[in-house]
Amino acid sequence: MKERFLVKGLAGKKTLKGVIPVFGGKNAVLPLLAATLLTKAPIELYNVPDIEDVKRVGELFEHLGVSFGRVAKDRYSINTSGISNGELNHEIAKRFRASIVLAGPLLARLGQASFPHPGGDVIGERPIDIFLEGFQRMGATLTERDGSYHLEVKKKKLQGMEYFFKLVSVTATETFMMAATLAQGKTVLKNAAMEPEITSLAEFLTSLGAKIVGAGTPVITIEGGTLTGTPKSFMVPPDRLETGSFLILAALAGDTIEITNCNPGEVEVLIEMLRRSGVSLTVKKNSIIVKGNGKVKNSSLSGMNVRTHEYPGFPTDLQAPMTVYLTQVKGESLVFETVFEGRLNYVHDLVRMGADISMWNPHQVMVRGPKVLVGRELESPDIRAGLAFVIAAIVAKGDSVINNVYHIDRGYEEVEKRLRAIGVDIERVK
Ligand code: UD1
Repeated sequence: MKERFLVKGLAGKKTLKGVIPVFGGKNAVLPLLAATLLTKAPIELYNVPDIEDVKRVGELFEHLGVSFGRVAKDRYSINTSGISNGELNHEIAKRFRASIVLAGPLLARLGQASFPHPGGDVIGERPIDIFLEGFQRMGATLTERDGSYHLEVKKKKLQGMEYFFKLVSVTATETFMMAATLAQGKTVLKNAAMEPEITSLAEFLTSLGAKIVGAGTPVITIEGGTLTGTPKSFMVPPDRLETGSFLILAALAGDTIEITNCNPGEVEVLIEMLRRSGVSLTVKKNSIIVKGNGKVKNSSLSGMNVRTHEYPGFPTDLQAPMTVYLTQVKGESLVFETVFEGRLNYVHDLVRMGADISMWNPHQVMVRGPKVLVGRELESPDIRAGLAFVIAAIVAKGDSVINNVYHIDRGYEEVEKRLRAIGVDIERVK
């Protein structure tokens, strides 16, 4: 079913008002769901966002023989004791990149796992060589056949390893951390990713009895063994990327907006940059207020250079919303995408809306602002650029249509309802 959003632009007016809550994070919930495969104990997760990627994991779980039941709006109970095979359904797994995070726990628990080359967003080539290398270093044998991978471990036990990441990878760090909890011996991960989702995963694994030191730093040490800890319910942390996107929207189109249920410390880099640009923000323990901006013209805010970086640097997942911000504020800004190839292709659509952006090369664009954006029909290319288009459509003059809403639904729960509550004229049509 192809759904789209119809958005009536505010033509640069800053009238949005009220409270917008942040829901549980896509990038946090996926590894937590994967980690439940490591234990036979029943688990409850809450603050689970109702997003398409979670539904896809539920479908993969069903094929694996895992019981995955929704016990309340945001609460799921998971019981993996009936799991019998380590084969991820290929049709489903191909649809999203994060399906690969299930492979590590399956291999560690069952001694075998098979999966297709994972799909996902169209943001350039996304190899899985690090995953495959690490699994083999932990003692797995790899066979590749017809575009799918089969991994097997003799005597069903992975071995601990010392592994230096040639590139900082978030999901590979999560995968090896999970697999290492059931491996024989010690694993040391060096040049590991430091994203908050890794810290929350380590907290969850520790609650199951894992021995992990250093999560959130570049060196993580895991003592392998068994997971016999007392299971408890665990909260999915709020989505820092949703927090950041709402902050950018509030800065551009808000009168006074409070973003609630969030961890402001996890978007410190964005808060700092918006403050330097001239945005007035009040940061509380679990909320951020963007205030008084109705009176401040966007053209009096200033542009700045943005360079994406691993956490705690500027997240690549906020690069597209930030580029929309830069089209509205004063001055020349250079955006440098350092993490992915092809993650700037969406700028052609912003140019069609009237933005002044020149592409220097696949990694760098120059944005000159402020420019009036005009409503257009747009195709959501990936989850993050999709939400950036929603922000662009809100600040634009005239009406926009955003097709391919599935991409936005992959990561953001009913975003249109929350946007309507602060005054955005947005409608979902089938
Ligand atoms: C995760 C996030 C995604 C975010 C990205 C970077 C999840 C579910 N997704 O994706 O939202 O944009 O981190 O913050 O958490 N690479 C290789 N070989 C590999 C693995 C990665 O070359 O085997 C490269 C990638 O192509 C990329 C870089 O490493 O250039 C970093 O990617 P990585 O951190 O792995 O991204 P994901 O974990 O897939």
